[in-house]
Amino acid sequence: MLKDSRARRIDYLRVSVTDRCNLRCIYCMPPGGVPRLSHEEILTYEEILRFVGVAARAGIGKVRLTGGEPLVRKGLPCLVGELASRHPNLDLSLTTNGTLLAEHAGELRRAGLRRVNISIDSLDREKYRMITRGGELNRALEGLEAALEEGLDPVKVNVVTLKHVNEEVEGFAELAWRLPVHVRFIEYMSPCGACDPDLYVSSESIRKKLEALGPLEEAPPPPGAGPAVYFRFPGARGTLGFISPVSSHICGNCNRMRLTADGMLKSCLFSPEEVDIKSLLRSGASEGDILESIRSCLGRKGSGREWAANPSRAMFQVGG
Ligand code: 5AD
Ligand code: SF4
Repeated sequence: MLKDSRARRIDYLRVSVTDRCNLRCIYCMPPGGVPRLSHEEILTYEEILRFVGVAARAGIGKVRLTGGEPLVRKGLPCLVGELASRHPNLDLSLTTNGTLLAEHAGELRRAGLRRVNISIDSLDREKYRMITRGGELNRALEGLEAALEEGLDPVKVNVVTLKHVNEEVEGFAELAWRLPVHVRFIEYMSPCGACDPDLYVSSESIRKKLEALGPLEEAPPPPGAGPAVYFRFPGARGTLGFISPVSSHICGNCNRMRLTADGMLKSCLFSPEEVDIKSLLRSGASEGDILESIRSCLGRKGSGREWAANPSRAMFQVGG
């Protein structure tokens, strides 16, 4: 079992498979885009598989593939297939913007993907286009439908709320009424974001807007729920949840570590502490050496709070 410096059990690994993305969300990327990592700089699928193997044998039971946008990397379903067949008990999931999901959902499901989180920040076509700098809402919604049709379960929808931009909640309330999806409103973390800190909106304020639509009851969290708390309108097929990294102290229950696309292991989203796994993997390190590095990285895991104001990397580099 892996434990960090504060005796928190670490059983969840997030793997960013690429820093590239086919969208340019205003809270995530600067307008001019970002310098891309070269092919040699990012971990190969073989390297990812080797690292996950070591991590899984050390007690990691849950792996989420993230980006950038993971589906822009070629052959992602093959990676999913290999992970699932090598680790049949692994809880394998994907975070995607959904725009390429309609064409891949079936293949991903057959490869062994169990569940998916789809980022859709507005259900208004024009607002979605504005937030994603040109994205088409329909494509993300087609991805969502395909995920449901293929039986991915649970299907969660991530919504980063921004003041005066996408505070409207009716559309999402209706979505969670009609479909068995779990919508999660996420507080904007400005230190690792790309837009004005004043755009922050608290979960509390979003919850009040939902409550104005009708009485909300607490709902049991869907499988794999992390720091979100969930509610539902009685009779609804889906739920509405809140992830509050800014207004509440969620670090105390942190159970995760992160591998960046360029092969650095991070014990905290915000912390500058990184361990160079890529160099280890490329220098013939043994499983014991890799495990030792994982333990030493976790041994230096702080509370999160000390770095939160000044994170070392942007979100598209770490994958949330
Ligand atoms: N604050 C909060 N959430 C963010 N995400 C990306 N950048 C930020 C930020 N600055 C979200 C994405 C995705 C999830 C992995 O993290 O929208 O849903
Ligand atoms: Fe791409 Fe996700 Fe960042 Fe949007 S938030 S630009 S979809 S990585």
